[in-house]
Amino acid sequence: MKTDYLTLRENFRTGIDPVDEQHREMIECYNDLERAVATGEPHEARVNALFSLADATRRHFRFEENLLEANDYPDLARHRGEHEALLEQIDDWASRLRDGELNLTRDTMRLIREWLLDHMVGSDQHYVAHIRHID
Ligand SMILES: [Fe+2]
Ligand SMILES: [Fe+2]
Repeated sequence: MKTDYLTLRENFRTGIDPVDEQHREMIECYNDLERAVATGEPHEARVNALFSLADATRRHFRFEENLLEANDYPDLARHRGEHEALLEQIDDWASRLRDGELNLTRDTMRLIREWLLDHMVGSDQHYVAHIRHID
């Protein structure tokens, strides 16, 4: 099966090193999942990969919210709300996959990829100017 591995492209980069590092880690988790699907690894390996992505995301969001709070980011409440919705979505995918209620079809993988990119390319780009201005 053809795979769609992700890399941290220029337009995903925030220029804030720990954030870029954590985004890279999330991309790695996604790629592990993509690999597990492409090579037909056992169900357990896919479940672990998706839960790893959820864990990395949860840690990253906590870090990001602390960073934004420390820098008096005016739109923090909205950003936090976006994080909450994103976490709810990935937790739902992970538990449904674990319970055998979700198949990782090409369409599902595309949704997960879009979920990841919406955060990095969409939502996060709004705070970059604010944080880098302070730096
Ligand atoms: Fe982020
Ligand atoms: Fe974010």
